[in-house]
Amino acid sequence: METTDLLTVSEVAARSGFAPSALRYYERERLVEASRTAGGQRRYQRSVLRRLAFIRAASNVGLSLEEVRTELAGLPSGRTPTKSDWHRISAHWRTRLDEQVAALEALRDKLDSCIGCGCLSLKQCGISNPADKAAATDDAPGAAYLPPLLRRPTH
Ligand code: FES
Repeated sequence: METTDLLTVSEVAARSGFAPSALRYYERERLVEASRTAGGQRRYQRSVLRRLAFIRAASNVGLSLEEVRTELAGLPSGRTPTKSDWHRISAHWRTRLDEQVAALEALRDKLDSCIGCGCLSLKQCGISNPADKAAATDDAPGAAYLPPLLRRPTH
């Protein structure tokens, strides 16, 4: 491979929209790979841009890092998603987005009774404690108060 085929951190950051710190994080999490120059600087193959686009799309859909990792690991040899991979995976995400929309709509409907109230009561507020989930999840952090599809795992 020609050296010019490789991209620097700043080039990848500029093209992908991810901050260099995010690129380092994804590398530590083994979602992307980078080689090193003799001086220890990171170099990326161009295909990393498609992989990062996939990560961003998955994140926008609401997938956790672990779910992104699982999707990428499901590709042969951990390669970058192709157009047909994307077609298959995104069809699966459609269902997930529909469920998230329904959960958000339910949350919005509960918000109507909160507007002008302000109590944030853990007993009666449908936003701060829908269906009294707090009572059943005493070991869970605040995310337990959201519908399951709108929760993000804590790291
Ligand atoms: S803030 Fe009072 S019911 Fe939600």
